[in-house]
Amino acid sequence: MGANVTVNLGVEMTANSLSLWAPAKVNLYLEIVGDRPDGFHELSTIFQSIGLMDRVTVAVHSGPAKISVDCPHPLVPNDQTNLAYRAAELMVQAFPDAASRQSTIDIAIAKNTPVAAGLAGGSSNAAAVLVALNMLWELGLTHQALQDLAAKLGSDISFCVSGGTALATGRGEVLDPLPSVSDLWVVLGKYDNLSISTPWAYRRYRELFEGEYARDANTQTSRHDQVRSGAMVRLLSQLAQGSRDNLDKIRALLRNDLERAVLPDYNKIKTLRDCFQGQAPLGAMMSGSGPTVFGIAADGANAKLIQSAIRQYIPDPDLSLWTAPFIAQGVHLAPSTV
Ligand code: C5P
Repeated sequence: MGANVTVNLGVEMTANSLSLWAPAKVNLYLEIVGDRPDGFHELSTIFQSIGLMDRVTVAVHSGPAKISVDCPHPLVPNDQTNLAYRAAELMVQAFPDAASRQSTIDIAIAKNTPVAAGLAGGSSNAAAVLVALNMLWELGLTHQALQDLAAKLGSDISFCVSGGTALATGRGEVLDPLPSVSDLWVVLGKYDNLSISTPWAYRRYRELFEGEYARDANTQTSRHDQVRSGAMVRLLSQLAQGSRDNLDKIRALLRNDLERAVLPDYNKIKTLRDCFQGQAPLGAMMSGSGPTVFGIAADGANAKLIQSAIRQYIPDPDLSLWTAPFIAQGVHLAPSTV
């Protein structure tokens, strides 16, 4: 243990420590279909990984049974409430033999993704810990097995394991991979001092729209089928094949039902969303439960232009803006030199 082992071209890991990129996601489509017996909402959603990524380093050692999380970000807890900690705890419970050989687990998170932002930053960190421990403990688990474990921790962690472009149903954990779209960009905006609790956003949606919920399994299945064979999935497939003929149609196909619950209570996010829609000809909306707003851009240069136009309209220093490409990967190894 401790020797350098080359596991991939240009990627090195020490035998007991591993660094991974944990990408954020946006939802290009989020339809709340109805109610579930477990109290969650049945979703039809399309996830897209983006190149805004945290770096998660996991080290395992023989020694006292202990999990530690080190993340210098002021809003990220370093205790057992951190999803990355809970991911390690789940792996220890599920694989006690491996855990007993290397029972000290140290997790370091370098945060680039905003927190409580609707971008699955914390979920992606947890996915990275599952993937890292699978490799470090040489468990040989498949993506599917990792995704089954991920689903025990949260609704969008399974997606973060595999990433790319995917249609998700159930709570968001039943995945149907779509051909990867990787040559579009997003511009993202979030007010630093504004975060939204996901449970609150769903609770508020229920208060307002429970009357519209589909409750029987047949209606829910037929909604999923309509999305699966619908215009957004068709357009994304065309884009994945390199055809941009219908790219401008994406604007009308973006949908996020949670905007209906969140925007009326957060005028600041609505104003930001409207500004993004004015500047991004390919469309803009809130991601997940918010408060991050994203706009679609045709390429990196276009994303930078949209970003500076938004900055001119809203010079507020509390507003952070980013650009990032769509990417075809979820959690993946980081070069050791970065
Ligand atoms: O699974 P996750 O921890 O991301 O979910 C956070 C909260 O969001 C849940 O406790 C639930 O209140 C709500 N939620 C929901 N339906 C989903 C996903 C999340 O009601 N499909």
